[in-house]
Amino acid sequence: MATTGVVFSAFLLVISFFLLLSPPSCDAHPLKACMFDSIYQLGDSISDTGNLIRESPVGATSAFARLPYGETFFKNATGRCSDGLLMIDYLALAAGLPFLNPYQNIDADFRHGVNFAVAGSTALTTSVLADMNILSPVTNSSLNVQLDSMFSHFNSVCYTETDCAEKLKRALFMVGEIGGNDYNYALFQRKTIEEVKTIVPEVVQAIKDAVTRVIGYGAVRVVVPGNFPIGCLPIYLTGFQTNNSAAYDELHCLNGLNDLARYHNDHLQKAIEELRQENPNALIVYGDYYNAFLWLVRNAPFLGFDAASVQKACCGTGGDYNFSLAKMCGAPGVPVCPNPYNRVSWDGIHLTQTAYKFMTGWLIHDILPKFQCGV
Ligand SMILES: *[C@@H]1O[C@H](CO)[C@@H](O)[C@H](O)[C@H]1NC(C)=O
Ligand SMILES: *[C@@H]1O[C@H](CO)[C@@H](O)[C@H](O)[C@H]1NC(C)=O
Ligand SMILES: *[C@@H]1O[C@H](CO)[C@@H](O)[C@H](O)[C@H]1NC(C)=O
Ligand SMILES: *[C@@H]1O[C@H](CO)[C@@H](O)[C@H](O)[C@H]1NC(C)=O
Repeated sequence: MATTGVVFSAFLLVISFFLLLSPPSCDAHPLKACMFDSIYQLGDSISDTGNLIRESPVGATSAFARLPYGETFFKNATGRCSDGLLMIDYLALAAGLPFLNPYQNIDADFRHGVNFAVAGSTALTTSVLADMNILSPVTNSSLNVQLDSMFSHFNSVCYTETDCAEKLKRALFMVGEIGGNDYNYALFQRKTIEEVKTIVPEVVQAIKDAVTRVIGYGAVRVVVPGNFPIGCLPIYLTGFQTNNSAAYDELHCLNGLNDLARYHNDHLQKAIEELRQENPNALIVYGDYYNAFLWLVRNAPFLGFDAASVQKACCGTGGDYNFSLAKMCGAPGVPVCPNPYNRVSWDGIHLTQTAYKFMTGWLIHDILPKFQCGV
């Protein structure tokens, strides 16, 4: 009875959420009220639309540069770490803007913004991480390097600082998600969760400094996303699998890792509060990826996902979560599930297009009132 009640109210919640998301008139472009004319993105593989695969041989030869990455939407690899579109693509669609081109695509059209995000990148610089014995194996394009690229870009399109501020007053800035890899690398290089917690203040300071820098360039509307509940992802469920049932929560996610993600997110939200005090003319909004993802997992069956494989990689093989670090998506012989549309996890690390689509819907609903766009 109690379960039926919970399930039923969750169902109602989902239904009312859809109604809220799609009022009869302005459904397809809910962000249009904000009149954004461009989007600038900093971040990692959650939002890279093609930088890593262009920036170095490491990227060009990575699995992200090949099918099955991209199979659903583009029918070709674009450098997006998913089967199709990412949250930044759905944000652009909701704002009525074209998809963001990657900065590394020098021939691209940047009139509606630029994507500086690089898959595998970190919030702290590679050398700061190296000093902590944490190796960043994929790219050196950490947050600071991305900000330097952003600075050169604005230098090439603005005449003066005032001109830049004028050009950017209708821009949306996404500072993250970033920092997740700092923790991923540390944890998979055998640092304990307690050790990793000690670097959280530094990671958050790097993100805070990045927000200060973009506001310095003229940003007035900034979203700063937090980390995912990483203890729910197949890569962590596999790497930190244990027979101790007390290590798992009611969604079968690993408590300790979700606790670390919340620890980061709490620090980040405090930093955002300080940034608001320091920058009264900017609107700085927290992007709650943590709760957006948990909402999706809790409501997966009602949203059309295959309930039995919410924690299994669609593209992957081995173990209880169809994931193996030694044989990941894109490696020879790794199977891809026939229907990624009803799957949450794409490759055990990143989500499917469908999951990103639902998460973006939740996020827009959460963020929109905070931007005071006036409907
Ligand atoms: C697929 O993408 C690659 C770059 O990742 C590009 O070289 C190739 O031309 C694309 N193929 C098609 C059919 O669009
Ligand atoms: C990062 O920079 C170091 C030092 O310049 C270099 O040796 C390394 O190859 C770079 N890493 C990547 C992935 O490009
Ligand atoms: C859990 O227990 C089983 C049976 O005792 C054992 O084979 C397995 O290796 C254990 N798994 C982990 C992750 O400790
Ligand atoms: C897991 O992967 C195996 C192949 O390694 C596949 O046969 C199976 O259908 C997959 N299960 C799910 C739920 O994706």
